[in-house]
Amino acid sequence: MILVAGATGTTGGEVVRLLQERGEPFTALVRSAAKAEALQATGIDTVVADLADRASLGPAMKGAESLFLLSASVADQAALQLNAVEAAEKAGVGFIVKVSALGADSESPLALGRAHAEVEEGLAASGIPHAVLRPGSFMQNFLGSAETIRGQDQFYGSSGEGKIAMIDARDIAAVAVALLTGEEHASGVHPLTGPEALSNAEAAAVLSDVMGREIRYLDVPGDAFKAGLLEAGLEEWLADDLVTLNDLLAEGAEARVTGEVERLTGRPARTFGQFVADCADAFRK
Ligand SMILES: NC(=O)c1ccc[n+]([C@@H]2O[C@H](COP(=O)([O-])OP(=O)(O)OC[C@H]3O[C@@H](n4cnc5c(N)ncnc54)[C@H](OP(=O)(O)O)[C@@H]3O)[C@@H](O)[C@H]2O)c1
Repeated sequence: MILVAGATGTTGGEVVRLLQERGEPFTALVRSAAKAEALQATGIDTVVADLADRASLGPAMKGAESLFLLSASVADQAALQLNAVEAAEKAGVGFIVKVSALGADSESPLALGRAHAEVEEGLAASGIPHAVLRPGSFMQNFLGSAETIRGQDQFYGSSGEGKIAMIDARDIAAVAVALLTGEEHASGVHPLTGPEALSNAEAAAVLSDVMGREIRYLDVPGDAFKAGLLEAGLEEWLADDLVTLNDLLAEGAEARVTGEVERLTGRPARTFGQFVADCADAFRK
């Protein structure tokens, strides 16, 4: 049985959908009985546990042969995921696929990059065979700008003309499922990107083309970008991380395209145009 953490989220939701489609035995780890009920209604096995509650993880891992490990971008992400690694080790889980991030490094200027590196180190120390998926920026981040795209025909950022090889989170899920269900579990670190690197102005042109109206990218200074993020309710450390990330993107930190999605799934990664077409309702006025 495969245990899926993050099953109610963007990437984990697609992992669940793909596993269900393939008829693979799996259990979704969810935080509340209400979320468990919603998934059960669609025929999915669930277990209620919280990565913050170590006592809940032992029973949740029971019978799991492998684990899909993902949680949200919160300040204590590393501690939460290390709880899962510890519980997996005790339960004898045989393989873990962890979603990390491009640039994960203990010296990263990003708190998120350092947190992912800490979990990667914990995984290595555990001795459990594992694969690390290091995706770049998700195309789904554009859904966070859907309101201004609908209302003002524009979106904001501070990554200048930096090109970004964004990935569709559905392709991260496809890679995870390929590794979790493959004949042989392919351990290793996999940097995952989409098939092309686009600047935000180029992404705006794709959005305009697919949506059939002009949508513009407005590049703003880092402090104005941060103010917008705080206004949208982000915690300050995360807003700071995103401003720093945009500075790195402007320098081309995520411009390199890797062929890992195609190599590991046997089909090309989705383009940004495909993503926009599939999510067109979110961007339509
Ligand atoms: N967005 C990007 O551009 C990007 C790029 C690279 C890497 N990443 C990494 O990708 C991950 C986020 O992926 P995503 O966007 O697919 O996730 P997401 O949509 O934010 O969903 C997070 C999932 O984790 C679950 N979760 C959170 N805290 C939990 C806890 N304490 N115990 C059990 N489950 C918990 C959530 O459950 P609930 O429904 O209960 O909240 C939800 O299912 C983060 O690690 C982030 O650093 C993101």
